[in-house]
Amino acid sequence: MADFQSTLARSGQEFLKFLYRLINTVRIYRDNNHLIRKGVGELKGVMDSLSGGDDISVHLWRGRFHIRGERLQYRRDLSSIINGMVAFFTQRTIGQIIFFNASKNVSTEDFVAVIRLLNDSVMSADPPAWFEEKILEHGFSWVQVIRKQDEELSVKAVSLEDERYEKARSTYIHAVDTVREVAQKACKGIVGVRKTRRLAQNIVDLVREDNSLMLGLASIKDYDDYTYTHSVNVALLATCLGRQINMSDISLEYLSVCGLLHDLGKVGVSKDVLHKQGELSMGEWDQMKAHPLIGVRKILRLNAPHKLRSRIILGPFEHHLNPDMSGYPRTIFMDKISLIGKILRISDVYEALTAQRAYRARAYAPDEALRKMWSERGQKFDPILLKSFIRMMGIYPVGSMVELSDGNFALIMDYPEESRNDLPLVLLLVNDGKGNLIRGDMVYLADQVAKGGSPSLNVVRGIEPTRFGIQAAEFFLHEK
Ligand SMILES: [Fe+2]
Ligand SMILES: [Fe+2]
Repeated sequence: MADFQSTLARSGQEFLKFLYRLINTVRIYRDNNHLIRKGVGELKGVMDSLSGGDDISVHLWRGRFHIRGERLQYRRDLSSIINGMVAFFTQRTIGQIIFFNASKNVSTEDFVAVIRLLNDSVMSADPPAWFEEKILEHGFSWVQVIRKQDEELSVKAVSLEDERYEKARSTYIHAVDTVREVAQKACKGIVGVRKTRRLAQNIVDLVREDNSLMLGLASIKDYDDYTYTHSVNVALLATCLGRQINMSDISLEYLSVCGLLHDLGKVGVSKDVLHKQGELSMGEWDQMKAHPLIGVRKILRLNAPHKLRSRIILGPFEHHLNPDMSGYPRTIFMDKISLIGKILRISDVYEALTAQRAYRARAYAPDEALRKMWSERGQKFDPILLKSFIRMMGIYPVGSMVELSDGNFALIMDYPEESRNDLPLVLLLVNDGKGNLIRGDMVYLADQVAKGGSPSLNVVRGIEPTRFGIQAAEFFLHEK
């Protein structure tokens, strides 16, 4: 499967490259020129390996190309081609071009004619309509162009990518509901763990498919339901970190369950203490510090197979303990913390620092939180794991809001080249004139650096997004 996907991804990149080259070649040469014939041959060759007998759709969706529903990886050496194709689509208000399977049997002349029509459509006031009229005239039924607005309104145009987003979104919402339900039932008596386990499996699958998306989702902060969203975010961050250090699937599943349930003991802490605005009194602190132990008691009472239960007790018990065993709860029967405990600790503190809480004026921006944690490594966190965590998050984590060197604001969407965590793909946030920040263009900072001479664009600092009243995660979920 992985091999098939990488072949598909490579063919997709080749396809876009040859299409772009042909578009430019037909502008210069006549139909019978050998460069054109060669160009069509190359393009059709890659279409054969790409299609597997199906139609080929080239879909420009929120600044990224999707070919046959798979998002095209943003390779730096392809950036001028990708930018060229984005401009080609945008100038013609094209959202999608579909080459139906029958296109592999058409003549070189017909193929070139369609490429020319695509080129020429730019001169019309309504390129997609003009193109459609022309292909009807010529009887070219093997190709179709879909207008940009239409495809955004059309439910049918949902690509695999959007299905994944949808699955991620519903898993997230479902996870918050499940954690709430477990917490409420745990107060009353025995509660099953089957749902939580299934959720954890979903989370592990999603993290494997798209780490960046899940890290972006972990930036959701719902202050009305804080304990539950916090638990889900901790589960996502922990699972992503576990994957980063190559934990097995079954360990990732336990880790994810631990994340979801790590604060289950808070059901035993009174609401006044949990939501208190000022400092806690000694007595209140004692109540608060009891939550890991109460959590373990609740987990012991879960209706779960023995093996599962034994794997999900330690992490929640340890999640407020430091490497030197200071922190809470005080314990004399162990002298080191388990891997799951250490991962939960890092994920939990990062999540809590980046959330707005009643007892402090503002949340930490993600990069500030990472810097603070790094300054406390060794004492509070396992330094090696923390290093992996910071590497995974990038200096400016996916989902965080930043200020760029040109004064614009942007959201970090992805790090297309895993080894370059200084070169994110960002979504510009532009002022809509009414004081709201809305979605602007997608910019890959690697492209800006490549332009010698002009000043390179970089990230200056992280910004705490709630200061602007925005939820970074909404931009991830493709909401307008
Ligand atoms: Fe906790
Ligand atoms: Fe927590």
